Amino acid sequence: MFKVCTEYRRILKPYASMVLFFGYRHAGWIAHELQRRGLFTFRMPLIWVKDNPQPSYKKTSFRSGYEMGLWLINDGAQYAQPKTFNFLTQARMCNVMSYLIGRDGYKRTQHPTEKPELLTRRLVEIFTDEGDVVLDNFAGGGTTGVAAFKA
Ligand SMILES: C[S@@+](CC[C@H](N)C(=O)[O-])C[C@H]1O[C@@H](n2cnc3c(N)ncnc32)[C@H](O)[C@@H]1O
Repeated sequence: MFKVCTEYRRILKPYASMVLFFGYRHAGWIAHELQRRGLFTFRMPLIWVKDNPQPSYKKTSFRSGYEMGLWLINDGAQYAQPKTFNFLTQARMCNVMSYLIGRDGYKRTQHPTEKPELLTRRLVEIFTDEGDVVLDNFAGGGTTGVAAFKA
């Protein structure tokens, strides 16, 4: 985890934004460690609320209705400012973002953990300008690539 983040630190432009999605068990300590090791500045959690979470087949726990993304900045300082930050509308800049799993409610690919294209696209629009490079080396179903193309 921290090995790959060291590479992100090297590859990304200074003060570029990075968003990493994790399950709730890991998001907190990873954000803390990235900051403590001086790798990335942790700015804020971004919450994706799943409008259509998976059913609970065993019915022994709650259905998992959200995923947490960490908004990080490529700088080790405590309060770094992002290189690019395009404020969209007030409604679209809330850090709690509600989307269906898959594009428009159905999945674009067979990938088991596909992110909503509209969520990824919103993040690309906020954190990059036209002509910037978007990196997603864990591409999965390729959602980030599609979103970057359309943004
Ligand atoms: C959460 S999914 C990404 C979902 C993607 N953003 C989408 O919307 O489809 C993470 C992906 O990383 C891939 N992956 C995990 N470990 C990897 C590794 N060491 N090298 C390359 N890919 C890896 C997984 O196979 C999976 O497709």
